Amino acid sequence: MLHTLSDGFDWRVDRLEWPITTDVAPGLRGVIAAQTRVMWLDPSSGRLAYRGVPIESLAERPDFEATAELLITGSAGTGDGGSTHFCDNLRSSRVLPTDVVDLLRGLDPATHPTRALRAGVSALGCHELSVDNDPAGVRHWRELRIVGQVTGLVAQVVFHRRGVPACAADPHESLANGLLRALTGSPAEPEDESTLDLLWVLYAAHGIDAPTFASMVVASCLADPYYNVVAGLSALRGRRQGGAIQTVMEQLLAREDPAEARRWLHRTLAEGGRIAGFGHPDYRMPDPRVVILRKAAAALARRKGEGDLYEVARTIEIAATRELAARDIHVNINFYGGLLFHLLGADPELAPCLIAIARMAGLVALVHESLDTIRLYRPLTRYVGPAERPLGRDRP
Ligand code: ACO
Repeated sequence: MLHTLSDGFDWRVDRLEWPITTDVAPGLRGVIAAQTRVMWLDPSSGRLAYRGVPIESLAERPDFEATAELLITGSAGTGDGGSTHFCDNLRSSRVLPTDVVDLLRGLDPATHPTRALRAGVSALGCHELSVDNDPAGVRHWRELRIVGQVTGLVAQVVFHRRGVPACAADPHESLANGLLRALTGSPAEPEDESTLDLLWVLYAAHGIDAPTFASMVVASCLADPYYNVVAGLSALRGRRQGGAIQTVMEQLLAREDPAEARRWLHRTLAEGGRIAGFGHPDYRMPDPRVVILRKAAAALARRKGEGDLYEVARTIEIAATRELAARDIHVNINFYGGLLFHLLGADPELAPCLIAIARMAGLVALVHESLDTIRLYRPLTRYVGPAERPLGRDRP
């Protein structure tokens, strides 16, 4: 008997039978691949909630550490920050083994930060798992240290890139403050800390995006969490995904003024190019996170004396919306995310790593949750090559 979702197929217990007649769209668009309690994303209404809490509420007093706890443990807390135990664990996991820091500092400082981060996570995996001989990595999922560790790694990448000595993380300092201190060399202004928390809260989880799915596929093979995270980071780096933020920043910083920005946009689209920061596989409407980030970008740009840059960004957004909305291509989170990371002192190449910190929270939460029901991923292929034929003379 053939099963479909509508006749009550239960993917945890039922087996699919041949012949398979279901085809799915490229990119598995429109396929439900997991059930989750971690987050709710409704592309038609633009609603996005973590464990039932709308992002608009989380953005009012943004606290990435409490949001990470919400995603990972489900605890909605009291609204006054995360629990002390969780925060302590998160913050102290930024302190990295010396050999991992040495490995990062042995790389060329000009190495793309995402490559250095990937190397750092791999090194950390060797270190952690050889120490406690825990091949399935269960203990590490339980300790949920990866968010803190990735933050610690990114800070070390920043120090090395800036050419300053490595500085150990202060276990009492917030994740946002520690990272901003690494970026600028001085303690963060409260407004900057709050803006970075806001960015991280909004970037923390977004359904089964490519990084989360890549990580889930590796997890379905029962690899340890560090392999899963390396797979997720690799997907996140791609320029269609988190890597797009680098292009967003480069395209913005290369513009001279609003008039030149408009000319560039029309030329780019006329030549068949893409505008980074526009388009999303889920949304046929503007990404709901943009409303929040646009407002934050206007305020921070004003405070930093970068109002002109904000005007250029706004010009590009309006002109691109005019050109692309009719094709259902709308502004996405990276558009103002890129401007905000720039205003906080990050260069374009570094920005994907800053997204990675946030996305680790949602990724570990979703992958951890999936371990209860996950089955080895094994989609099928539809053969469209030549019919069966004898081995010819032209064989290699
Ligand atoms: N600018 C101009 N045209 C675009 C854009 C864009 N940003 N995005 C899609 N299109 C056009 C394509 O050229 C294509 O046109 P065609 O049919 O005439 O060839 C059509 O829209 C469909 O493009 P696809 O890539 O098939 O659409 P998809 O929904 O798969 O694209 C994606 C999603 C990859 C995000 C795409 O919109 C894009 O490349 N955007 C720019 C990069 C970006 O901002 N990425 C981050 C997205 S947010 C996230 O994290 C997923």
